[in-house]
Amino acid sequence: MKGLFIVFEGIDGTGKTTQARLLAKALVRRGYPVVLTREPGGTPVGEKIRGLLLNPELAGLDPLAEAFFYAGVRAEHVARIVRPALADGRVVICDRFVDSSLAYQGYGRQLDLGQLEQINALAAGRLTPDLTVLLDMPAAEALARLTGRADRMEQEKLDFFDRVRWGYRQLVNREPRRYLVLDGRLDFQELHRQILKAVEERLG
Ligand code: TYD
Repeated sequence: MKGLFIVFEGIDGTGKTTQARLLAKALVRRGYPVVLTREPGGTPVGEKIRGLLLNPELAGLDPLAEAFFYAGVRAEHVARIVRPALADGRVVICDRFVDSSLAYQGYGRQLDLGQLEQINALAAGRLTPDLTVLLDMPAAEALARLTGRADRMEQEKLDFFDRVRWGYRQLVNREPRRYLVLDGRLDFQELHRQILKAVEERLG
């Protein structure tokens, strides 16, 4: 694979979607072929399933079933969008990837991490991000930034998001070189500057 695969991660409300968009714009301006995409979603089928997964009417969905749904929609996204774009030499910027499943379903829902890794290895193969930007901040502050009606995941209680945040930190400890961990409370332009610098280093 010739492209560059950059993933944004963090609990809800940390501002990763904003930063993913800013990065995409900056790279397009510099002339890079960029694909900005997200999980769950990224394809017409994937976006339909996203609507279901985030619908509060599905509250109470069995955690293992939830893990399979996220992995299933990931298989669609990897096959249709991510792999072809990377093979084409593009910079793929993805809002959430496998780490979201490990953090939310593994640490948040407390499912077995090894099993989640197996399910996701089937869905995503050996595909690993070249760089994962983790926006970190206390869950209470991140959730306080959310606007609009809470989706199915956002309806979870604070302790769920505390576990997810803790989970992300455990993932970083396992493989620190893959991550850029930044404080989501920094000014958004400062965050953007640091992210762009790290990405440009990897683009050579
Ligand atoms: P998110 O990407 O944060 O979208 P928005 O910013 O529009 O709310 O929403 C996706 C939700 O799905 C988020 O709460 C995290 C959750 N999620 C998982 O639990 N597991 C996964 O594997 C993925 C990709 C997302």
